[in-house]
Amino acid sequence: MKYSLASSTWDEKEKNAMLEVIETGMYTMGEKVKSYEEKFANYFGSKYAVMVNSGSSANLLATAALFYRKNNALKPGDEVIVPAVSWSTTYHPLQQYNLHLKFVDIDLDTLNYDLEALKNAVTEKTRMILAVNLLGNSNDFDEISKIIGDRDIILLEDNCESMDSEFNGIKTGTFGLMGTFSSFFSHHISTMEGGMVVTDDEELYHIMLSMRSHGWTRHLPDQNMVTGKKSNDPFEESFKFVLPGYNLRPGELHGAVGIEQLKKLPRLIEQRRKNAQIFQKLFSDHPYLRIQKEVGASSWFGFSMVLKDNAPYSRNEFVELLNQHEIECRPIVSGNFLKNPVLKHYDYSVGGVVKNAEIIDQKGLFVGNHHYDLKEQLMHLKSVL
Ligand SMILES: Cc1ncc(COP(=O)(O)O)c(C=O)c1O
Repeated sequence: MKYSLASSTWDEKEKNAMLEVIETGMYTMGEKVKSYEEKFANYFGSKYAVMVNSGSSANLLATAALFYRKNNALKPGDEVIVPAVSWSTTYHPLQQYNLHLKFVDIDLDTLNYDLEALKNAVTEKTRMILAVNLLGNSNDFDEISKIIGDRDIILLEDNCESMDSEFNGIKTGTFGLMGTFSSFFSHHISTMEGGMVVTDDEELYHIMLSMRSHGWTRHLPDQNMVTGKKSNDPFEESFKFVLPGYNLRPGELHGAVGIEQLKKLPRLIEQRRKNAQIFQKLFSDHPYLRIQKEVGASSWFGFSMVLKDNAPYSRNEFVELLNQHEIECRPIVSGNFLKNPVLKHYDYSVGGVVKNAEIIDQKGLFVGNHHYDLKEQLMHLKSVL
């Protein structure tokens, strides 16, 4: 039996939504994207949402925006704390903006920050903490907020793997000043490529509207927090550039698909959580496998397994065994990111000792979760292990 990593959640609804856009002949960002953004912001409980062409672009846009606030803007050299396990494009925008990255170990059970290590890593130099909710699992935002205390530290969330996960009944991605999401194919919902930044901060929202589109004023409201009042002359405002931006815009087809996918999201997550219950029942007392410990209500991107010291086989043998039984698996995101050669381009330091990231790097992997019943696949997995 094949147990795949990811599967499509599209049907006629997405196809029809795309056909509707195709009928208009207009494919560039327009009303569908706008409507998707409004629905997205509403669903997650944020004031504003800005759609971009990937989760990576969402991280880039959020980082960039922080450099152009009127007050308290980030500056090159500022220190940002990051977890030692995440995706490459969690980190790259920080490098590209010449920030100093301070890597902190993760917790072997939750796979998010080791909270003690995080606490010890925060100093008067810390300007920002980037919290990554890994594989659908929320960080403990009560603890992070205690660690920050009354210090002037920005909390930013990379929620690209954890759409619709909750902590204390609040959606992840909304705890930070901004939160980023991905709707790449293998994620909870798919616009094939796509990302989103949410925020309650109007100034950052306006900065992102400009920086997403060439740094121009065209998409800014008439009265806005970047330029103040726009001129009444559309000709003048059509090619007026006020911020060093990019073109990170999604296409209209992606927005139209997003609207349909968002309608399905509660059902998709419900089934993912049911699958997780089966996974937990089968593997929580496993003699030599450690599974992810849920914090809040996870949206279960996938199911991680880390070999304990007494495991009868190595990780390579583990992968081989799964391959033989047609069970697809992947490393736990980047593993220990510090071991990647790209680090030679980074300005960075390490807060404490990164030992758990190394363990999951050497001994961990994850298998997929889906929006359909996985009982048979999970029983198959259990029979192999
Ligand atoms: C934690 C994290 N951040 C950012 C991204 C980038 O998202 P995208 O693939 O949409 O660019 C990913 C990708 O899966 C991710 O896992």
